[in-house]
Amino acid sequence: MPHDRPSLTAKKIARFLILIDAVPRLGPLLPEGAASAAEAILRASGAVGRRQIDMMRAPWTQRFYEIAEAFTARGQLVWFGLRKRWMADVVEEAIAGGATQLLVVGAGFDPLAAMVARRHPEVTCVEVDAPATAEPKRRGVRGAGFERTNLHICAADLSKRSLGEVLRGTPWRSDARSVVVAEGLLMYLDVKDVKAFLGAIREHTTAGSHLAFSYVDGDDAGRPHLGTLDWPIRATLRIAGERMRWGIRPRELAGFVEAAGFRLVGQMDGEALRKKYLAPIGLPEEPVAAYEHLGLVET
Ligand SMILES: C[S@@+](CC[C@H](N)C(=O)[O-])C[C@H]1O[C@@H](n2cnc3c(N)ncnc32)[C@H](O)[C@@H]1O
Repeated sequence: MPHDRPSLTAKKIARFLILIDAVPRLGPLLPEGAASAAEAILRASGAVGRRQIDMMRAPWTQRFYEIAEAFTARGQLVWFGLRKRWMADVVEEAIAGGATQLLVVGAGFDPLAAMVARRHPEVTCVEVDAPATAEPKRRGVRGAGFERTNLHICAADLSKRSLGEVLRGTPWRSDARSVVVAEGLLMYLDVKDVKAFLGAIREHTTAGSHLAFSYVDGDDAGRPHLGTLDWPIRATLRIAGERMRWGIRPRELAGFVEAAGFRLVGQMDGEALRKKYLAPIGLPEEPVAAYEHLGLVET
C-alpha cells in the first residue's frame, strides 16, 4: 500500500458512513453518533474537500449508489454500516467485560477510538496509521473537539516500524486486558505480515484480551478471492494502489489463529449480521453484499 498520501480507502469508508447516515432506512444501523463524528473529523482533517463531503448527503448521490449497486451487487454500502456497528459493539462488550485499553490498527478516519476515549475516560485508546493518514486524522480529531488525554494517535508505517516500538511511545501496558480492532487491514498484508501482526498483538496484550478483525475469503494459495465481487473490487483497489494480498477460507480461520496463540470465539458473515442488526430495524430482507467476513479471537 502506498503511504505517501492519505489512504483513499480510508477516506472512502468515512464518506460512506455519512452516506449511510443520509439514507433514512439505513441511518439507525450505525453506532450512535458515528456518522456525525466521522464527518466532523473528516472536515477538520483537510484530507477531503468540502464539496466531496457535502455531496454524501445529497439525494442524487444516494440515487447514484443505488444505480451503481444495481449494476454490480446490491448491499455493498450497507456492508460498511454492519461492519462498523459490529466492531463498535464488540469494543463496548470487551470494555464491559473488563478491558481497559483499546487499540485500533490501520484506523484511517474511523471515529471509533475518539468516541470510546470520550465515552470512557478511564480507557486508554491508541490508534495507529501511516503518517500520511494519521497526521490529517490527528488534525481532524483536534479540530472536531475529540482530543482527549486518553486518546493517542500514532503516525507509523507498520511495514517499517514494529507495533511494539510504536506502543512503547504511548501509555499502553502489555499486562492489561485489551481489545484490538483491525478493520479492513489484514487483507492488505502478506501472510507473513499477518502472522507477525498476530504475534505482536499476542505479545502486547494479556490473557482474556480480544482482537476483532475483518478478512476476505481466500483460495488454496491464500490469495484473496471475493466471490461474485472479486473482479470489480480487486480492480478498483488495484487502481487505487491498495492491492489485497491475503485471504483465508472461513473454515480454516480457527486453525490459523490457534497456531498464532489465539482462540476463535466468533465469526460473522452477511447473513448473521443481517439477522442481528437489520431485522430489528425492520429490514430483514435488505440485501447485504458481504465481501468480507468478521472474526473475533481471544488470547
Ligand atoms: C481500508 S483502510 C481501513 C480504515 C479503517 N480501519 C476503516 O475501516 O474505516 C486501511 C487502513 O490501513 C492503513 N494501513 C495499511 N497499511 C499500513 C501500514 N503498513 N502501516 C500503518 N497503516 C497501514 C491505511 O493507511 C488505511 O488507513
